Amino acid sequence: MRLLITGGCGFIGSHTVREALGSGKFQKVVNLDCLTYSGNPENLKDIDDGKYRFIHGSINDSKLVQETIREEEISHIIHLAAESHVDRSIDSVEPFIRSNIDGTRVILESIRDLEKLGHEISMVHVSTDEVYGSLGPEDLPFTEETPVCPMNPYAATKAASDMLVQSFSNTYGIKAVITRCSNNYGPNQFPEKLVPLMTLNAVEGKKLPIYGDGMQIRDWIHVSDHSRGLLESLFGLSDGSLTPGEVINFGANDERTNLEIVSEIIEMTDADKGLIEYVSDRPGHDRRYAMGFEKAKLTLDWEPLIPWEKGIRDTIDWYINNPEWVESVRTGDYLNWLERHYG
Ligand SMILES: NC(=O)c1ccc[n+]([C@@H]2O[C@H](COP(=O)([O-])OP(=O)(O)OC[C@H]3O[C@@H](n4cnc5c(N)ncnc54)[C@H](O)[C@@H]3O)[C@@H](O)[C@H]2O)c1
Repeated sequence: MRLLITGGCGFIGSHTVREALGSGKFQKVVNLDCLTYSGNPENLKDIDDGKYRFIHGSINDSKLVQETIREEEISHIIHLAAESHVDRSIDSVEPFIRSNIDGTRVILESIRDLEKLGHEISMVHVSTDEVYGSLGPEDLPFTEETPVCPMNPYAATKAASDMLVQSFSNTYGIKAVITRCSNNYGPNQFPEKLVPLMTLNAVEGKKLPIYGDGMQIRDWIHVSDHSRGLLESLFGLSDGSLTPGEVINFGANDERTNLEIVSEIIEMTDADKGLIEYVSDRPGHDRRYAMGFEKAKLTLDWEPLIPWEKGIRDTIDWYINNPEWVESVRTGDYLNWLERHYG
């Protein structure tokens, strides 16, 4: 098996590259990433494995995508590359349409065209719980049968890419499954997202801005549980436990409000509660997400293994103990990485 991971320098991508190399199941793991502000090659700088190759390029470049699949004889793809931050999609949706929708189109068309030439490729398309929209306080968690109802521009572009994948699977027989996961936390996440932002601000004595009343609920999963689920999905597609076009949800059954999370971070970092500052809510902010993941348990024998209490402690420690990483992503120093590494 020869694996292409798109977006492998990002948060979940970098954990998935490690998980794939660690599994010992792949002859080659190729990471295609164009290094947007959130793609950081420092996330993988310690990897010294002849099976690993990084290619700096965009999934929107169809020539590059086709060449990579052909030359590296790729048999499996985990497609993570995307613009991923809701707030940025509210500012401008154009990059989201380009990477999330059109980038996915390029990958699908590349697979379709190369399969005509005899290549066989299986793909996991990585989507999100956000495509299901918002739940009321008493609603049951989302299942794979919940209708898609995206409520913000980011979620709309992810839902559109999911639909494209389903349509290519149905129309051209592309062997692809769609995974939808709840909110990830863990090391290496760009500090615009809740956990790293609040941790670093708490440690540095800066304000802790909370949207609205802070009562928005998310189901939090450790990133390594998600990455393991992505690999299990790929293997499930190969061994027939999953059929092309299927959707599979991942979650942790661990619902928490944003305010609870910030309060825990304050406690664990011995910060001052007075740092909390309530700010105007995000427009169109979904109130609650919760994921049902019975199908992943039954079909893939997958379940989350890292309890929140341990995961969040280790995550906070990681951000505190890696000031160089924090500095490099904040200053954009990693953008000089190519220069330093490739001259
Ligand atoms: N973070 C979460 O909680 C979460 C939950 C469920 C699903 N997801 C999905 O998982 C995927 C990864 O999310 P993340 O949190 O790791 O995001 P991230 O922003 O940390 O990483 C995205 C990566 O994709 C790369 N990228 C973006 N556009 C590209 C393009 N056109 N060509 C090549 N590379 C490109 C970036 O450089 C970056 O390395 C996304 O598809 C996201 O929708 C994320």
